[in-house]
Amino acid sequence: MKKQNINKGFFITFEGPEGSGKSTQVKLLAEFLDSEGISYILTREPGGTDFAEKIRGILKDTSLNKVLSLKTEALLFQAARAQHVFEKIKPALKDGKIVICDRYADSSTVYQGEARGLGKKEIEALNYFSTDNLNPDLTILMDIDPETGLSRAHIRENCSLEKDRFEEQGLSFHKKIREAFLRLASEHPSRYRIINASDEVSVIHNKIIHILRDEFKLF
Ligand code: TYD
Repeated sequence: MKKQNINKGFFITFEGPEGSGKSTQVKLLAEFLDSEGISYILTREPGGTDFAEKIRGILKDTSLNKVLSLKTEALLFQAARAQHVFEKIKPALKDGKIVICDRYADSSTVYQGEARGLGKKEIEALNYFSTDNLNPDLTILMDIDPETGLSRAHIRENCSLEKDRFEEQGLSFHKKIREAFLRLASEHPSRYRIINASDEVSVIHNKIIHILRDEFKLF
């Protein structure tokens, strides 16, 4: 299938491990675009539509998800993604909007394909099918060493009511995640930008604005 040329807007994804400060940067970017009066939508995976958020609930429900096979889990991420792309991302891009998405298909490649061992090629084929080969124009990878990332995630986790299973993994799992994201970034150098996520929040934010404005001429 050829890449569809529906991309009148601009599609930005944020990727990286837990505790990398992704969500903080997504929020700061949204605030910046608001202040500049630039039209965008902010969304996330798994989730982004009512239906896909229900799937997110299932994936995160510790009373349900214990019985899920790795394949079932992978397909639930894909089902949520297919609906998200169809209902929200593609229409926004067609309208010429900037779409900012906190995680997308590369998370499946890395988490299900590589870290969980289902196979990179297999998951990439599923991504291709679920998204009609809709790829981001730019992916910001928040790169952080696993020890720092994990300790940050644990601080956050202690503040939340329920621990979810995504953060219950050991250090070696998180090392795999980091390596897999860095490998993907080297395979797609034109759309990937790697950010050192252990820098100051404001330094990172400024770097992201620089990438969008000066490299990608987005505004
Ligand atoms: P979330 O609470 O959104 O955490 P984060 O702030 O790290 O994004 O949880 C999303 C989790 O789901 C995260 O551990 C990564 C995982 N995930 C996958 O395993 N596959 C996927 O395709 C996606 C989108 C996320």
